[in-house]
Amino acid sequence: MKRRSLIMGGAAALGLGWLLRPGERGADHSPYFQQLSAALESANLAKPSLVIDRSRLLENIQTLRKHLEGRFEYRIVAKSLPSLPLLGTVMEASGSNRLMLFHQPFINQVVLRYPGADILLGKPMPVAAAHNFYRQFPGGAFDPQRQLRWLLDTPERAAQYDKLARELGQQMPVCIELDVGLHRGGVTNDAQLVAMLDLITRSEYLSFGGFMGYEPHIVKVPIGSAETYRDRAMTVYEHYIEVAKAHLGALWPEDVVLNAGGSPTYEMYDEGSYPVNELAAGSCLVKPTDFDLPTLADHVPACYIATPVLKALDTLQIPGIDLGAVQSIWDPNRARTFFTYGGYWKARPESPEGLVNNSLYGRSTNQEMLNGSRRIHLEVDDWVFLRPTQSEFVFLQFGDIAVYDKGAIVERWPVFREQAA
Ligand SMILES: Cc1ncc(COP(=O)(O)O)c(C=O)c1O
Repeated sequence: MKRRSLIMGGAAALGLGWLLRPGERGADHSPYFQQLSAALESANLAKPSLVIDRSRLLENIQTLRKHLEGRFEYRIVAKSLPSLPLLGTVMEASGSNRLMLFHQPFINQVVLRYPGADILLGKPMPVAAAHNFYRQFPGGAFDPQRQLRWLLDTPERAAQYDKLARELGQQMPVCIELDVGLHRGGVTNDAQLVAMLDLITRSEYLSFGGFMGYEPHIVKVPIGSAETYRDRAMTVYEHYIEVAKAHLGALWPEDVVLNAGGSPTYEMYDEGSYPVNELAAGSCLVKPTDFDLPTLADHVPACYIATPVLKALDTLQIPGIDLGAVQSIWDPNRARTFFTYGGYWKARPESPEGLVNNSLYGRSTNQEMLNGSRRIHLEVDDWVFLRPTQSEFVFLQFGDIAVYDKGAIVERWPVFREQAA
């Protein structure tokens, strides 16, 4: 090839590459985030903080009520709303005292604060954890013999709980976990169910309280329709109800709990008839990004991480390899650099719009690099907002939650505390 055509070809490739480079994105905070920034400043906040927008939380609760009312009882998934005052707000606005809990220390905290709660375990706990609950329970208005249903998944665990109940002289209502398609545990055949029911009915201390069959897979399986998986899960559920009714006869409880659902699936029960009588949900009330799903299109984001900008640069510099300049020339969305107070949370940058992490520079829990275009005029001490991808772990990382309502931080809500076993 002649030298001239080589140069022409190279120039054409460069030109094409230039045309293909990412378009410039980015914008300053919308009025919503400007107001939120002002509210945080007025409240003297100056560290990474978890913010809940109370009006939006209440809006989500009303949305959920509209779907469930007259059809199902509502059980609040406490692990996804891990703060006593947050749970209290949800209990009051939803009119439900039914809670689903997943962690022994949190059960002890909840029963002291909300002695009227009706609790169902969301996972089977080691029997030693159940024992720790009774050891740490100081007594009071909450009556575990009526208000606390442990979850059992195998005949072996049922035998362990029977032994504990006998040793403690405690009546223990128990629910049985069903595998309705998720394959994360629970009863998978009639023989197992019957063995557990026999053990429970023979026990002087255990009583059968109902079933829990969680089915988030129905909206996640890549092949086939969610409706088909829902119907299959409900057919399995119904079958186990029939087996248990036939086996227990008059011992089938009047106030039986037949629990299913979770945020991604609860709206799939709006129409039709199903064998369950209550649906559980928690995350949809604050809507982290993992819950940006078609089935939750009518829920609004209600939680953010807010963190101050420590440093703002009009360049991108990466030590050593010095590809920073190349990155920013290629991608105008990397023209500016911001270091935030803390970082590397399970979260995505939300505002200002267009901020991105820099995997070449790396992540940091101490001072995290974010890049943005020149359309973003963030400066030192301004706030950056991120949306958590999930709530149950992220909410516990910031101390008291800052409760935002119509332009002001109006309350601080402590989150659940870990306690010694
Ligand atoms: C047993 C059970 N039910 C319901 C849920 C739904 O929780 P959320 O609504 O927060 O997704 C979960 C979540 O893990 C669960 O394990």
